[in-house]
Amino acid sequence: MPIRLHINIDHIATIRNARDMSYPDPVYAAQLCEQVGADGITCHLREDRRHIRDADVRRLREVVTTLLNLEMAATDEMIDIAAAVRPEVITLVPERREEQTTEGGLDVVGQRAAIEKTQRMAERHGIKMSLFIAADEEAIKASADLGVAQIELHTGDYCHAPSEAELERLKRGAKLAHGLGLEVAAGHGLTRHNVIPVAAIAEIEELNIGHAVVADAMFMGLGEAVCSFRDAIERGLALRD
Ligand code: PXP
Repeated sequence: MPIRLHINIDHIATIRNARDMSYPDPVYAAQLCEQVGADGITCHLREDRRHIRDADVRRLREVVTTLLNLEMAATDEMIDIAAAVRPEVITLVPERREEQTTEGGLDVVGQRAAIEKTQRMAERHGIKMSLFIAADEEAIKASADLGVAQIELHTGDYCHAPSEAELERLKRGAKLAHGLGLEVAAGHGLTRHNVIPVAAIAEIEELNIGHAVVADAMFMGLGEAVCSFRDAIERGLALRD
């Protein structure tokens, strides 16, 4: 099973916003990523608009030719934006104003009503929905119970403190989710190094990678950074049974 590589271009916007200029342009970055073979573009429109802004999402919708994955909280504001923009995919993430980045997985049980409301909008518009969750049995089973198409496993714990136990947790989660009929994506904190064992997990079909791609791009250029990730993923795929 090949792996779709989706590049998260949020941090191009972070750099732009540091000076409140028009460059670097995340939309141009998205086009470059597509040119070198990215399978999709991911962006997160946060409530505080700290990186991606509404106009970016609209422009991305116009130019992205692969697939646009809009990460968002399950709020009424974001539901309206997604309904207007119609990305191919929405990924529901938990969001806390004070966090540096998305720090945990979605509380699928506690947030069920908001998730279902978003799901109704997604179904009306033919938008695929993915839930960003920890690799925990309860969250995976609750996601399957909701009937969503996909889950994205939060790889943050594994990436911040790599261990066999964390990798095993991801493997167990991926297997359980796949067995329940869910497509399995993964992301958060992945680098060209730690992505290899994750790409080796047989059930993983998609990776969403942002921060490390933008960091590598500073030294090697964006195109080369994306290609280097693709190479690393290929090395992981070669390790599959
Ligand atoms: N997937 C989701 C759902 C995310 O929220 C993020 C961070 O925005 C990523 C993937 C990418 O994480 P990173 O920027 O650490 O590669």
